[in-house]
Formats: sequence, C-alpha cells, structure tokens
Amino acid sequence: MTASIARHGDIATVTIDNPPVNALGQALRQALWDAVAALDADPAVRAVVLLCAGRTFIAGADVSEFGKPPVEPHLPELVDRIEAAAKPWIAAIHGSALGGGFEIAMGCRFRVADQAASVGLPEVNLGIVPGASGTVRTPRLAGVAAAVELVTTGRPVKAARARAMGLIDAVVSGDLRAEALAFARQALARPLPPPVSQRAIAPVDAAFWAEQEAAVARRSKGAAAPLRALACLKMAAEASFAEALAHERATFLELRGSEQAAALRHVFFAERAALRPAHLKDAAALPLHRAGVVGGGTMGAGIAAALRDAGLPVVLIERDAEAVARGLANLQAILDGGVKRGKLTEDQAAARMAGVTATTDYAALADTDLVIEAVFEEIGVKRAVFAELGRTCRPDAVLATNTSYLDPRLIAEGLPNPGRFIGLHFFSPANVMKLLEIIPTPDTTPETLATGFALGRILGKIPVQAGICEGFIGNRILKRYRAAAEALVRQGVAIAEIDAAAREYGFAMGPFEAQDLGGLDIAFLQREGARAAGRQLPETLGDILVRAGRKGQKTGGGWYDYAPGERRPQPSSMVARLLAGHVQAAAPMDRAAIASQLVGEMAAEGDAILNQGIARQGSDIDLVKIHGYGFPRWRGGPMFATRKRPAP
Ligand code: 3HC
Ligand code: NAI
Repeated sequence: MTASIARHGDIATVTIDNPPVNALGQALRQALWDAVAALDADPAVRAVVLLCAGRTFIAGADVSEFGKPPVEPHLPELVDRIEAAAKPWIAAIHGSALGGGFEIAMGCRFRVADQAASVGLPEVNLGIVPGASGTVRTPRLAGVAAAVELVTTGRPVKAARARAMGLIDAVVSGDLRAEALAFARQALARPLPPPVSQRAIAPVDAAFWAEQEAAVARRSKGAAAPLRALACLKMAAEASFAEALAHERATFLELRGSEQAAALRHVFFAERAALRPAHLKDAAALPLHRAGVVGGGTMGAGIAAALRDAGLPVVLIERDAEAVARGLANLQAILDGGVKRGKLTEDQAAARMAGVTATTDYAALADTDLVIEAVFEEIGVKRAVFAELGRTCRPDAVLATNTSYLDPRLIAEGLPNPGRFIGLHFFSPANVMKLLEIIPTPDTTPETLATGFALGRILGKIPVQAGICEGFIGNRILKRYRAAAEALVRQGVAIAEIDAAAREYGFAMGPFEAQDLGGLDIAFLQREGARAAGRQLPETLGDILVRAGRKGQKTGGGWYDYAPGERRPQPSSMVARLLAGHVQAAAPMDRAAIASQLVGEMAAEGDAILNQGIARQGSDIDLVKIHGYGFPRWRGGPMFATRKRPAP
C-alpha cells in the first residue's frame, strides 16, 4: 500500500509510505490520484491531511524513471487534481519536501511543517527545471524574487525561513499529525484562501530580469538548467498560468532528455553509491567520538577545522611549543574566515576553538578513536610520528596518514596492529573540499576501511576508495592532464588558448593559471626528489620555468606574468624566450578540440587506473575529479563525458 486513508471525524489523512524517500513513482502517483477521487466521493470528509511515513515527506519525482518515457498519471495533472479536489488538502511536511514533493504541497490549499523540515526545488541540480508547476506556483506563493532564489540555486530552505517567505503557512512543534489535524479544523472554520494557481503575481520590471540573467549566467558556469528555469519564471510572471505551465512542461521534457541531465543524474547516483559502498555493507565502522591530528600546518589545521565542524573534540599535536601556537593560529585564521563570510557566528567560532587541545604531548591522544597525521611529506618524519602513535594510542584506534605521494605501506611499517592503519587523503582547503580519498593497505581491516567511509559521511565529504600508486586517483590523473597541456604547448598551441579552452569547457581555471595560483615548485620538488632517488624523469616545461625562478603568482610570474598585487595573468615574453627551443611554430587549434584532447587524456589515465584496480568503478574517478579538481559537475566527470554512447 503506497497511500492509505484513515478518518479522524470529518477529516481524513492520506499517508504515503514509499520507502526510502517517498519518491513519486508511477504507482504512488496513481495511488494519490485514486485517493483524491475516493475522498471527493465521501460526503463525510471535509478536509484531507497529506502525510508521509518514514524519514521524509515526498523527496521528488522518482529520478530512476527519468531515462524512460513518462507514464500516466503525469505529475502536473496530479498536482492540478489535488488543487481542484472538492475538499481542501493540507500538506503536513517533515524531512524534506523537494521537487515534485513540494509541487504536490503547492497543489494543496495549505502547507504545515515541523521545525526541522525543509522545502525546495532542487531540479536544476539534476539538469532540469521543475516539471509540475514549480516555476508557476512558487512566485504566486512567495513572489518572484524568492522564487528566483529557490528555483535557480536549487538550495532548499528551512521551515522557519520558508514560513517567512510565504512558502508554507505554519511551522508546528509537537506531533505533526495531531498539529496538522488541528490546523485543518481551524482552517475549516474560516473562509478558504484561493488555490495557489489563482493567486496573482506582483509584477517586476525588465531591469530585474536583466540583472538576474547576468547573475545566474555567471553562477552557473555553463550549466544550462538555471537559465532555462529563470526563463520559465519570467514566463510565469508575464503570461497566463496555463501558458506558463505549458512552457515549463516543454522545457522540463526537453532538458530531461539532455546530455547535461544525464550527466547530473549519473553524479547523483554515483555520490549516493560512494557514501554507502556495497562491498563494505557487512563491515562495522568503529564509533568516532574524539579525534587527533598530528601537524597543524595547512592541511592539519584544515582537517582539525573539518572535524570541529562535525562536532568532534580534537587533540592537535605539533613538534614544539612554537609550532603548537602556529597550529592554533592557523586554525583560528580558518574560523575567522568562516565568520567573515557569514558561515559561522563569533560564538560558534569560539566554541570550535574551545574543543581543541593543542600540545606536544602524545599522551593526550590516549583516548582518541582516530588520529590523522599531516606532517611534512618526508618518510622519516612520518615513520617517527607513527612509531610514537603506535606506542601511545589505544590499540583499536584508527591511525591515518594524509600523505599525497608516499607509499602508505612504507609509512605503516613496524606499526603494532597494522590492520587499523589507512590513508585518508584530504584536499586543500580540507574544511571546504568535498573529496576524501581513502587508501587501504593490504593489511587494513574492513572495519578500519568502513571507519574511513564513516568519517567521510560524518564530515559531509564524498569518500572514494583508491588503491596504492603514485598520486592515487586524483593526483595521478592531474599529472597526466598537465603533461597533456604541456604537450599542446610544445606543439605550438598558445598557453592562454589552452587555459581559455579549459574554462570554456567548464573548469573554473585552466591548467596553467591553476599552477600559477598553487605554485609550480611543489610538483618540481617532487620530481627533483624522484630524480635524486635515481629515477629518470624527462625535464618538463614547468621545470624550466622553476629553474628560472618562475614559481607562479607568489614570485610575480610562472606561466604568465602578474603585475604587482594583481592576479590577472598576462602572456609573458620571458616565458616565450625560456621555452623557445622546446616549442614548435605557432599552431592554432580549435578550443573544443583542445578541451577534448585534455579530457581524453584524463579518461585514458582513468582507464589505466581502472584496469589496475586502483579505482573500483569509473564513477568513482568522476567523483574524484568533480569534487577534488573542479571538473564541471554537469559534464559528469571525465569517464562519463568520454563514454561510448550507443548510436542514435
Ligand atoms: N528518486 C529516486 N531515488 C531517490 C530520490 C529520488 N528523487 N531521492 C533519493 N533517492 C534514493 C537514493 O538514491 C538512495 O538510494 P539507495 O539507498 O539505493 O542508495 C535513497 O533514496 C536514500 O537517499 P539518500 O541517501 O540521499 O538519503 P538522505 O536521507 O541522505 O537524503 C534526501 C534524503 C534529502 C531526500 C535526498 O535523497 C535528496 O536530496 N534526494 C533528491 C531530491 C531531488 O532531487 N528531488 C527532485 C527530483 S526531480 C523532480 O522532482 C522533478 C519534478 O519537478 C517533476
Ligand atoms: P605544512 O608544511 O603546511 O604543515 C606540516 C606541519 O607538520 C607543520 O606545521 C609542522 O610543524 C608539522 N610537523 C612536522 N613534523 C612534525 C612532527 N614530527 N610532529 C608534529 N608535527 C610535525 O604541510 P601541509 O601542506 O599541511 O602538508 C602536510 C601533509 O599533507 C603532507 O604529507 C602533504 O603531502 C599532505 N597534503 C598536502 C596537501 C596540500 O595541498 N598542501 C593536500 C593533500 C595532502
């Protein structure tokens, strides 16, 4: 039974029960359609409360149906049917009312929510626009400006704000069903407001739309859906309800079949699969109550901030008193940044700081469940740290390294109980970047591995398992990508053209500007280290620049020149001179071809990574590039973007 009816005097409840998230698949749409008919025909019923069982109100249309032809009853007609019911319907919302779920709620005469609930229209995150009147009813409820925010960002809003915006009628505490029934009784005692579709929209001027178009285009960086959603809202404000609804539906159906929507659905399901890996379903994660971090530099402070954001008390270990103070200052600077950007209040930042014990004394780690090492990238330093951790931590505590390139097996050598050792590779800034690469050694137990994934979930990260190789998944592909970009330069393609091609493809930055920002010296020093250890590595163009003192923005120039205090890259005649002997005559190349070459190389490395078992599945590689390296989400990642498609 997906929708069951019960009676409470002259008010009926319809309770939807379609786990896990009450998505509006065909069977549920039909059940709701039938419920409207049954209750319309029942003279004893004067109002209907719509509730959901389980963890949430309706989370939206069933995304897994999107690849298939639409089947009746269609959602827009169902929303209209509820609105046209002979008795007023009242949506009682807990959890999330999203997409089609919120559209159903807008078809109801009233919306009541509990305090923890949120509502939203996240369709643009799936490459589509709301397809069941979201762009047409929302401005009638909350005005055009609020509708633009809700629909073009896709971000849900919490109950209290939704109430202030006019999206819902009441926020209740206590038992939602009892409160919604009480609300229904009171509503029946007063004249009913008009159905949402019959309400007017306050007009806005042409300048408003021009401003919004510019802002949405800037924010969406190549993603098509937000601008199309804005166009639907403009139509809603300027045309009749029926015309706007028809335009919205046509846009929805067109985008639903688009490449961008397919890519975003791929990422949606890939993320969910990553969070709950099937191969670990029988492994119990260890409980995480207290964590330790060794090293309070760039990464250690960022990791400590991430742990504190998740509410875990943190012990931060540094090598001497001065470094302890520096580590605390690094963390304070991160929190201050959060306050400045309005993400944290002063009080929250102070509470984050108060939950940190910073010391040089490893004994303070005795009670931690997990310790993450983020000291210098030197095998000797790391091994000394783990020897100390092996002596002082609880035998069941998970011990993790944040190494970027060292072999975790060498770091773990000599540890008592190596089963609890693991690589946890964060990305900078560690409290912001979503990616967490999880690297087990052959000794790592399934429980330790499951604990790594559990940590990812607690921190709100996307955890991806990687095997051991130089650079794991992300940095290994980055290396190939940079080499491909350098190969194009050698062929005579202009540096600025390559960066422009990458940006046009959807990256926030091109490969060369990104290196100038991060510094060319890090990769250079790593290559020099490998050369010192006897490896034969050919000289890269980047090596030539670093040897000439060009390490990037911090030295006033790298691949580009920078005017003092400026971040705008200028083509450099010095770079042209330095590279002259290594670069062929200018050979212009189409930007789309440049991007396709770069992404093709990424995918080729991805294939090698898959064949060697370094990644478990192609979608994991896509997540790594999207969440760690700025690959455009709406392209689905390098593996998805270059997949072989069946012939049309
Ligand atoms: N369709 C199909 N399956 C869905 C789904 C949906 N809309 N939303 C979630 N699921 C599935 C997930 O894939 C997952 O499946 P699994 O257990 O097999 O991996 C399961 O439900 C649980 O999902 P989460 O792990 O994400 O559960 P959480 O409790 O962490 O989060 C949620 C719940 C906030 C509702 C979250 O699932 C979510 O944001 N879902 C997507 C909501 C959405 O995008 N809705 C709009 C759909 S488009 C639409 O409605 C078009 C309309 O305008 C016509
Ligand atoms: P960093 O130089 O900013 O910080 C290292 C910190 O470790 C310093 O504060 C230092 O005082 C401390 N330290 C050194 N020896 C110590 C010891 N014996 N005991 C306690 N503390 C000690 O370096 P960063 O950038 O934070 O890197 C740390 C680790 O994270 C490295 O392994 C690096 O490869 C890795 N990493 C770095 C990333 C980055 O973007 N910077 C990204 C991902 C991983």
